Amino acid sequence: MNSKYAALFESFTFRSGVSLKNRIVMAPMTNFSSNQDGTVTDAEASYYARRSGGVGMVITACTYVTANGKGFHGEFGGDLDELIPSLRQLASGIKGEGAKAILQIFHGGRQVPPQLVPNGDVVSASAVPSEGEGKPVPRELTDQEVESIIKDFGETTRRAIEAGYDGVEIHGANGYLIQQFFSPHSNHREDRWGGSLEKRLTFPLAVVDEVKRVAAEHATGPFVIGYRFSPEEAETPGITMADTLVLIDALAKKDLDYLHVSLQDFWSKPRRGVDDTRSRIEIIQERVGDRVPVIGVGSIYTVEDAIQAIQTGVPLIALGREIIIDPDWVQKVADGKEDEIVTKIDKDKQQELVIPDPLWQAIIHSPGWFPGIE
Ligand SMILES: Cc1cc2nc3c(=O)[nH]c(=O)nc-3n(C[C@H](O)[C@H](O)[C@H](O)COP(=O)(O)O)c2cc1C
Repeated sequence: MNSKYAALFESFTFRSGVSLKNRIVMAPMTNFSSNQDGTVTDAEASYYARRSGGVGMVITACTYVTANGKGFHGEFGGDLDELIPSLRQLASGIKGEGAKAILQIFHGGRQVPPQLVPNGDVVSASAVPSEGEGKPVPRELTDQEVESIIKDFGETTRRAIEAGYDGVEIHGANGYLIQQFFSPHSNHREDRWGGSLEKRLTFPLAVVDEVKRVAAEHATGPFVIGYRFSPEEAETPGITMADTLVLIDALAKKDLDYLHVSLQDFWSKPRRGVDDTRSRIEIIQERVGDRVPVIGVGSIYTVEDAIQAIQTGVPLIALGREIIIDPDWVQKVADGKEDEIVTKIDKDKQQELVIPDPLWQAIIHSPGWFPGIE
């Protein structure tokens, strides 16, 4: 390996005691490839195993914690004990290749397609639809239902422990239910779950507390708990960088293993909320300091991109599309073959790349999403 890249290959130990062999993480990515009953398919397990040999840690696609949280066709479930063997199949495949396995736990809230949830009952913090044509108007959750979903996040954490995962990532990003409670766009409640910025934090923090409680009760060894958030929303009103700094301060008090900043472009700049021309990730890293490790992500295609990213002080970086396009990204750097990293998807290589059909179809029919697909 070229010594310039050694920083990427330093080991890393989380607060919980779980250690990673390097600083590179596979980002959570939905693959649309699970069975109708919520079990993982062999194709999906193979896709993960193919990508688990180089990275220190794999964060799985999101899994729904309760039936009305299912956000995607072919999403695997974490809502029933019957699904523990399926969850275990995925964890074992990842760990068998040497990476730590983290289950991303999720509820889609108002973003779920009505046909995927029982009785088409789309729920959210308030009866406010997402922006855009034909979006369903969600039903506002009752106080008791909110409590029940918090418990569901805990129950899925217990299943993750029983299935052998090294940890869970709470999906508080990308506009899904947890973010919907934090956002002034989607949360118009005036009870204990909404009203002020602080009260909009109640649900996200209650999920964190419940996941921690369950991990303390059930995990027999070190267990990672991470939290993913999106720093800003495009909508007005919507989450601003200023709001996110408040979220970060609240999360930093929770003894989490990491915060994961969901971005398409690692270097993207704030839209509003702070008077600062630096990138969002630099502002966030400065605010977080050494209170909790940060994972940065977004369009880190080359090893030079990765080195620049890690030089911001962010201890861990995640690769998403890049590791779909080139499953040997990390091994190539380790072997001094970084010039051979592929950064555009090769349309003739579905089999070689071990990509399940539904994910492949999504990739090749979405121009502009993956480099190489015009
Ligand atoms: C196919 C695909 C599926 C994704 N699914 C998820 C998901 O389930 N959960 C999540 O938090 N982010 C998801 N993302 C976002 C990625 O984790 C990542 O933040 C984004 O792709 C930018 O990183 P990249 O440039 O390394 O791909 C998805 C991205 C892609 C491309």
